[in-house]
Amino acid sequence: MPYYSGDLIEEVISQNDIVEVVSEYVTLKKSGRNYMGLCPFHREKSPSFCVSIDKQIFKCFGCSEGGNVITFIMKIENIDFWEAVEMLAERAGIDTTRYEVNNYYNKIESTKKDMKDVMYKLNRDVGLFYHNNLIELLKEDRNDVKDYIISRKLDIKTINKFGIGYSTGKESLYDYLIRLGYSDEEIMASDIILKSKTGRKYDRFFDRIMFPIFDIRDRTIAFGGRAFGEKVKNKTVPKYYNSQESDIYHKGKTLYLMNFAKRNKLENIIIVEGYMDAIALQKFGFNNAVASLGTALTENQARLIKKYTDNVIIGYDQDGAGQAATLRGLDILANHGLNVKVLKLDREDVKDPDEYLNKYGPERLQNCINKAISLVEFKISILEKDLNLENFDSKVKFLTGVSNILSKIDNNIERDMYIDKVSKKYGMSPGPILKEVEKGLKLKKDDEVQIDMNALNKKMQLVTTVRKRQDQYIVALLLSKNKRVQEEILRSISSEDIDDENVRKIFDFILSLKDKYDINKIDILSKIQDEDMIKEITDIMYIDISGYEEKLLQDVLKNKKKEKLFTRRDDIIKRLSEDISNDESQILEVELNQIIIELSKLK
Ligand code: UTP
Ligand code: MN
Repeated sequence: MPYYSGDLIEEVISQNDIVEVVSEYVTLKKSGRNYMGLCPFHREKSPSFCVSIDKQIFKCFGCSEGGNVITFIMKIENIDFWEAVEMLAERAGIDTTRYEVNNYYNKIESTKKDMKDVMYKLNRDVGLFYHNNLIELLKEDRNDVKDYIISRKLDIKTINKFGIGYSTGKESLYDYLIRLGYSDEEIMASDIILKSKTGRKYDRFFDRIMFPIFDIRDRTIAFGGRAFGEKVKNKTVPKYYNSQESDIYHKGKTLYLMNFAKRNKLENIIIVEGYMDAIALQKFGFNNAVASLGTALTENQARLIKKYTDNVIIGYDQDGAGQAATLRGLDILANHGLNVKVLKLDREDVKDPDEYLNKYGPERLQNCINKAISLVEFKISILEKDLNLENFDSKVKFLTGVSNILSKIDNNIERDMYIDKVSKKYGMSPGPILKEVEKGLKLKKDDEVQIDMNALNKKMQLVTTVRKRQDQYIVALLLSKNKRVQEEILRSISSEDIDDENVRKIFDFILSLKDKYDINKIDILSKIQDEDMIKEITDIMYIDISGYEEKLLQDVLKNKKKEKLFTRRDDIIKRLSEDISNDESQILEVELNQIIIELSKLK
């Protein structure tokens, strides 16, 4: 990434309307001069996420996340500051080359960024190396690699499309990378080449079929390598080796083949476990298939999916989908508003979608997909599998378990529908189920009362922070467009007058900017990196003081003066109660009288 001048930041902010940008991720409803929606950064049922069109900032009053359009993109896309700036520049069609600069200070700041760029390029070159190795071997008459590829039904079109490769070639990977001009340091940083005790440098993926893992922008960020043949049969090596997490590869944020899937209009996304499952599905025309690569799904992945579709079908291995970690992953998807269905293969003799497709073909799989069951039904079927329903105790357990699942459904109609369905399917009368579900619902209600108590506590905290409000007003006034008010604040208030630490930090920060910039013209928010400060300043920006500046200024000044007088008064009273000379006591009494008179005037 080149180095950009700060002007690009201003340009990006002015060319990307925050309401439009946020709307691409969050459903917003107009509410007065603001837009409200469900916060994408924490789970909530009623909206506390607020976007201000005039201030061009967002603020969640639930989790206190806040910031401008750049902060928003950083958080929601999980990317760093300059990546967010670039992304928004691209969105607005800004020619970033006009803002490229070459200064030393910027260079130091972005060395880390540079290293990331090198790693993207290096991983791509490594992927090509592996791919070419495989292509060479496929040209030969026969060899064990070719045999394996054929046995997995991988055709050349698929191999090319997904960049599939083979790790070991005629030249060593290390020598090849050196030949391409990478330094030893860069190569070793990639973590693909390892160093043995004797100092020999070797490929961690020696003798494996290689699957490059791409990010959403088609960059190669990691690899999975599958061993094959005798080695796997004898279990002398793990079946798959995968790249370690790195600056460019975050497992929990990646879905394998999502970069391909997202090219289509997606009615739904099929999530499978393995590389080969996603590849096989895409090969047979299921362009919406991605793989979670054997780990439980994360919030980040849920958010990624939610960008493209509302519907997910889980196509995990028959034994894989019942595990607790998997179920938690599915709940995460559901909690992000995704409609989750679970695919059940109608044959027991195959374990995953790849095997199913190769044995029974795509039409029959499509049939299973059409019959995919809801997450609730799936959870109930697991309960059923674990218990022997002939037995009385088991039946009671089942009933409790089912009621527990059903009482978590928010929608009344949907809940009743399931109660009806379950009672019919398992030959139970609906009465007891209903009773149990109602018990569960009541417990949930009690929980909610608990939450209300918390809200109340919060409100009480608000009352105790009237003093903090006073401090916030000072900054709000300093940021107001009223020049006279600004000057008065600067003249009468100093840092020590502000009690609240975070507000004081903001105040000091603005003062420090004042020497370099016209604070009325710059976007202060974009100059702040500290999370606490961002939260604080967005809070302050939401205090609407327009039209009240003069009155508020008088109040603030009066209050600050009062505070000072009160403190001095208490000091004097304390001093008078001590053993002091008559002279001192007389002087203090005079001062105390004056203070009391002044205080009464200030009322
Ligand atoms: P599976 O064991 O189901 O393998 O693991 P698979 O994907 O069906 O692979 P094939 O068909 O045997 O070639 C599912 C996923 O779990 C991860 C991989 O991402 C794999 O695709 N895994 C599995 C590992 O990371 N390491 C392993 O040793 C095994
Ligand atoms: Mn498989």
